[in-house]
Amino acid sequence: MKVPLLDLKAQYQTIKHELWQAMEEVLESQHFILGPKVEALEEAVAPYCGCQYGVGVSSGTDALLIALMVKQIGPGQGVITVPYTFFSTAGSVYRLGATPFFVDIDPVTYNIDPRSIKNFVEAECNFDYAAGALLHKGSGIKIRAIIPVHLYGQCAEMDSIMELAKEYHLVVIEDGAQAIGAEYPFENHGSSSRAGSMGDFGCFSFFPSKNLGGFGDGGMVTTSDREMAEKLKIMRAHGSKPKYYHHLVGGNFRLDALQAAVLSVKFKYLDTWTDKRRQNAAYYNSLFQQSGLIEKGFIFPPKAIWESGSAINPQSAIPARHREPARSGEAGGRNPKFVGHIYNQYVIRAKRRDELRTYLREHGVGTEIYYPLPLHQQECFVELGYKAGDFPESEKAAAETLALPIYPELEPAQMEYVVARVSSFYAN
Ligand SMILES: Cc1ncc(COP(=O)(O)O)c(C=O)c1O
Repeated sequence: MKVPLLDLKAQYQTIKHELWQAMEEVLESQHFILGPKVEALEEAVAPYCGCQYGVGVSSGTDALLIALMVKQIGPGQGVITVPYTFFSTAGSVYRLGATPFFVDIDPVTYNIDPRSIKNFVEAECNFDYAAGALLHKGSGIKIRAIIPVHLYGQCAEMDSIMELAKEYHLVVIEDGAQAIGAEYPFENHGSSSRAGSMGDFGCFSFFPSKNLGGFGDGGMVTTSDREMAEKLKIMRAHGSKPKYYHHLVGGNFRLDALQAAVLSVKFKYLDTWTDKRRQNAAYYNSLFQQSGLIEKGFIFPPKAIWESGSAINPQSAIPARHREPARSGEAGGRNPKFVGHIYNQYVIRAKRRDELRTYLREHGVGTEIYYPLPLHQQECFVELGYKAGDFPESEKAAAETLALPIYPELEPAQMEYVVARVSSFYAN
C-alpha cells in the first residue's frame, strides 16, 4: 500500500469543476491582482477567524513581515519567539533588522511556553516604567513584540501570553500559518476564540499544504484594528495611497485574484476538511493506543490540549498546569465538547525517529520532519550568539518528532496500514 504524506490530487478531483469555473471568471475579467475576488476572500476569512478585517497578502511569510512593518519593528528592537518553528517566523523579524529573542517550547504542545517568556523577561530584561518599555539588559534592545506560533494547528497558551504582553507593553503577532480555524478557550471571552483573533494580528498562510491551500503562494493578516487594517493595505501596495503617492515604504505583498478565487471555493469546504482531519487524528490515536506502543514508550502521539471530554485525550494526560477541575456532570476540562486542534499536521514523538522514517519510506508511507534543526542553530543566525543546548525542548522536538499523513481524504485502511508498519518497525 502507498500512503503519501499529502494527496492534493484527491481533493482537487472532488471540486475540480467549481475551481475551473472560479478561475475562468478571473480570466474573463482579466483582473489579476487584488480586486473583488480578493475582497470577497477577505470578507469571508476575517469573520471566520473572529476578526473584523482581513488583508490578503502574497504569503504567510509576508503576512508576518507586513504585520511587523506596520508596527515599525526594526533595528534596535527585538521580538520574542520560538526556535522550533518554520524559518519565516524568525526570518521575517531578522530581515527587518530587528533581533529575534528565542525562548523554549512546551514539550507537550510544541508551542511557546509562557513560563519561558516569563523567565526570559525576569532574568534578561528590565522594564522601564517611565518609558513603558521592556529593555534587554545585555544589549539595550527594546523588546517590542511576541510571536507565538500555533504549531501544527493547535493554539499556543494565549491567556498567559496576552497577560505578559499587557504587562510589558508588547505587540502580539499570532503566527497562525498552520492554524486557520483553530480554537482556544480564552477565559476572558467566556467562550473559545479562534487563532488570529487574540493578539493584535493573526498571520495565515495559504501554502498548498495548509488546511486552506491555494494553487501557489498566498496569505492573510487578520486584525480588528481598523487603523492597522488600513495601514496593512497601504503597506502591501508599496506604501502608496493613492497610487504613486507613498506615505510609507512598503512592498509588493499583494494577493493574486486567481489565488483568491481558488481559495474562496476551497473555503466552503474548510470545516468539512478540518472535521475529517480531526476524525483521522482520533482514529490514529485509538490505533496507537491499541498498539501498545505508547505504554512501551516507543511513540508519543500528539496531545490536543485545548479540548476535552474525549476518550482519546484523558485529562490525566494533560500537564497539571493545563488542567482544570472537572465540573459536575462533565467529563472534565473547560468545555466537554470543545475541539481546538485543526491538525494541519499529526506529529508523533518517536524513539529511533530517523530509522523509523526510513523504514516507513521503504514501506510506502510518506512522512516529514518538521523541523530538523531549530532556528537558534541555523547558520544564518550565528551572530545571535546561541549554541546547542540553549533550548533543550526545541532541540529534543527537532530530534524526535515525525509528521504522519493526516490529510482529509485519508482512508481508515491507510491509517491502519501506517500504524501496523510503525508497530512492525518496533517489533524488530
Ligand atoms: C509556522 C509557519 N509560519 C510561517 C509560514 C510561512 O508561510 P508561507 O509559506 O505561506 O510563506 C509557514 C509556512 O509553512 C509556517 O508553517
